[in-house]
Amino acid sequence: MLRNDFLSIRDFTPNEIREFIELGRLIKSNPELFADSLKGQTLALIFEKPSLRTRVSFDVGIHQLGGFALYLSPAEINLGKRESVYDVAKNLERMVQGIMIRTFAHEIVDQMADCAGIPVINGLTDYSHPCQAMADYLTILELKGEVAGLKVAFVGDGNNVAHSLMFAGAQLGAKVWVATPPKYEPDAGAIRWAAERGENTGGTCTVTNDPVEAVRGADVVYTDAWASMGQEAEKEQREKIFRPYQVNAELFQLAKPDAIFMHCLPAHRGDEVTADVIDSVHSVVFQQAENRLHAQKAIMVELMKPKVAEGLRIAARSL
Ligand code: CP
Ligand code: NVA
Repeated sequence: MLRNDFLSIRDFTPNEIREFIELGRLIKSNPELFADSLKGQTLALIFEKPSLRTRVSFDVGIHQLGGFALYLSPAEINLGKRESVYDVAKNLERMVQGIMIRTFAHEIVDQMADCAGIPVINGLTDYSHPCQAMADYLTILELKGEVAGLKVAFVGDGNNVAHSLMFAGAQLGAKVWVATPPKYEPDAGAIRWAAERGENTGGTCTVTNDPVEAVRGADVVYTDAWASMGQEAEKEQREKIFRPYQVNAELFQLAKPDAIFMHCLPAHRGDEVTADVIDSVHSVVFQQAENRLHAQKAIMVELMKPKVAEGLRIAARSL
C-alpha cells in the first residue's frame, strides 16, 4: 500500500480498506509483534475540537508502538489565525514524523496534507471521521464474522460519522441505510460516491426520512449526536427536529433479534438514544471505542512504516 496520508476512506481501494482492518485485527491479537514498529517516531496531535477517544487512542496507540505523541491544544496552535496551515505544516515536518489533525473544515486537512512532507491523519472534520469508520467495521467484523451483505442502519443526522460509515460500508459491500429528517440528509456527493463504489463491491447506500424502514431487519443500528461539535447554537432547534429519530427500544426491536447497537460516542441518553438501548446487551459501544486504538495503530504503522506493516503481515501468516 503506497499512501502517505489517511484523509478519507474514499482515497483507498476496497482491498486497501480490508488490509487496514485486517492489520488492526492482527495488532489487537498480537500487540507484542508491533511493540517497536514506530520506535523513536513522534506524532503531533492537533486538536481544534474536544476529544476523549481520539486523543487517548492515538496517544496510547503510538506509545504502544514505541513512539511518542505530542498533544497540541486549540489554544496553542490557533490554526490559520496565529499561524497559517502552510507554516504549521512546514515547522512540524522538521520535528515530527506524522500529524493527526481534528478540525472544522475538511479543506484544512487536505491543505495540511498538501503542505506537509510527512503523513497526515484525519482525526475528524465537519465532513468525515474515517478513523471512526475503521474501528466501526473492525467491530462489526469481530461480532458478525463478515461485513458484506449486512444491513447497517444509521439513524439521525447525515453528518461526518454517517459519511464515513457510508464510504467504508460501500468499500466493504455492506447495505447501508441512512434515515434522517428532511434537510439533514448526507451530502449528495457522498451518497453518489457510495452508490457508485457499491456497484463494484455489492454494497448499497439508501437514504430515507423513515427510521422504521431503515431499522427494519437491520444487523447494525447506529446513531450519533444530533448536534455535532461546532453546532452548539442549533442544539435546541435540532432536539425538536430529531426527536422522531431517537433510537429507543420500540425502534430497535424492529432490527434483527441479534442486532448490535453502535454509537461513536459521546452519547446523550434520552436524546439520540435511550438508556435501555445503549446500556442493553445489544450495545457494543465500548468495544467499538476500544477498537479505535487497534484500528489507528494499523493506520499509523501503514503510513509511518509501511515496510514494517508488510513484513509483519507476512510473518503473521505463518503464526
Ligand atoms: N468518537 C470520537 O471520536 O470520540 P472523541 O470525540 O471523544 O474523540
Ligand atoms: N458527529 C460528532 C462526532 C463526535 C465524535 C461530532 O462531530 O461532534
